[in-house]
Amino acid sequence: MKTYKGIFILLLLLLVFGLAGCGDEKTVTNVGKLHFENPLKIPQLLEPTIGNDGTKHFTLTMQSGTTEFLPGKMADTWGINGSYLGPTIKASRGDKVAFDVVNHLDVASTIHWHGMKLPAVMDGGPHQMIEAGETWSPNWTIDQPAATDWYHPHVHGKTAQHVYRGLAGLFLIDDKDSKKLPSDYGVDDIPLIVQDKLFTSDGQLSEKDDTTFGTLGNEILVNGTYDPFLKVTASQVRFRLLNASNARAYHFGFTDGRSFQLVANDAGLLQKPVTLNRVMLSPGERAEMVVTFKPGEETILRSYSEGSGIENGEFDLLKIVAASKLTASTPVAGQLSTVPPIEVPKDARVRQFKMTMESMINDKKMKMNRIDEVVPAGTREIWEIDNFGWSHNFHIHDAAFQVLDINGKKPPEYERGRKDTVFIPNGSTVRLAVEFGNYPDPSHPLMYHCHILRHEDDGMMGQFLLVEPGTESQVSTQLPKNNHEYQHTNHH
Ligand code: C2O
Ligand code: CU
Ligand code: CU
Repeated sequence: MKTYKGIFILLLLLLVFGLAGCGDEKTVTNVGKLHFENPLKIPQLLEPTIGNDGTKHFTLTMQSGTTEFLPGKMADTWGINGSYLGPTIKASRGDKVAFDVVNHLDVASTIHWHGMKLPAVMDGGPHQMIEAGETWSPNWTIDQPAATDWYHPHVHGKTAQHVYRGLAGLFLIDDKDSKKLPSDYGVDDIPLIVQDKLFTSDGQLSEKDDTTFGTLGNEILVNGTYDPFLKVTASQVRFRLLNASNARAYHFGFTDGRSFQLVANDAGLLQKPVTLNRVMLSPGERAEMVVTFKPGEETILRSYSEGSGIENGEFDLLKIVAASKLTASTPVAGQLSTVPPIEVPKDARVRQFKMTMESMINDKKMKMNRIDEVVPAGTREIWEIDNFGWSHNFHIHDAAFQVLDINGKKPPEYERGRKDTVFIPNGSTVRLAVEFGNYPDPSHPLMYHCHILRHEDDGMMGQFLLVEPGTESQVSTQLPKNNHEYQHTNHH
């Protein structure tokens, strides 16, 4: 009996000290510190000029500027067609789009179209550098289901810095299914670009990045607005959430406990809306939700702390105030996407990727001239990702996937739709059914990587080629070093 009691007390002590030990890592929070004084900024919709063949031409100019985030304090920032963030691009499935991406910064950068299915040479990854003063002009035809995509730089070794300083924007794709949802941009279709920041005492963005994940901020900007509120005027509002943070993950919910209808994941609408009261997004992920409001009510969109590292932090994001009279919205349709779920054939190729603490994938750091995988264009495969340490996520360019399972179990309800980026919890195995893009190109690689930008910059990234099926063994997995496109990468 005595020994049992002894062991019991020992266990109790371990528990108490163990918990105290965990408590060391205090939850970072802004709860109670905000006043919700600033009207939420809505990024402008960029008007295209229409070419003779109907092509929509857009111009994006990367530039530096100053932005007032904290009241009365100016910060040096970067932006696209403005001083911080960029305009929203909107196009429909079937549209031809063309861009002039002008680099008015004094350093080279790129613009990558995250989530877009397009030829590899238009992807805007680390091989499509735009020198200071130069213009890059990609074009393609939008051929994928409706989605909330985004664009951001992808300079190898510098992505974290370029995004953190403000280079990012939304790219919305419409199709016949998405029109069933509230679609009046800025009225009942509201983008929410969520980013955490560290500020210096004079209101500048601090680039202090002393965690394994890089910069983890203690303040939040939504669409570049500090301390924001939003007045809504419709009884149902669609929010498009984008986690454009360098590292932080958010568990979104409302302080009054209300539920919402999740209607889309990263790469498209769900088949049917799902009623939830939490959705988690790691960096790069998107979700769309429809929230119902009663006249005059108020709630706060909050991110709840659900763990350590990138999930540690409780943040008020946005106060939402419903007008005393609301226009009545049509209820969300029971059937949303008509695109069939991604299924892999029985004999689908399985590829394994091991993510480790040293920011490596399959024990390798990214190399600009090494091809890691060769994939037949237009095929479906199973990609199995194992995480052996820290939190990571996994993004694949020019692809959409569905999560098959996490440690053998069905994924949570909020991530069962089409995606292009997925959280990979520490110590877990996540299996994906991946549908690859359709443009074979044996000389321009696409990327897969951790979207925690510090990890990506550190080399937690690999390159794959999409090739004409049957030619996999004929392509070179070594890219020419002297190729003009690869010159800018060696000085990191
Ligand atoms: Cu959002 Cu490879 O990037
Ligand atoms: Cu991407
Ligand atoms: Cu990572």
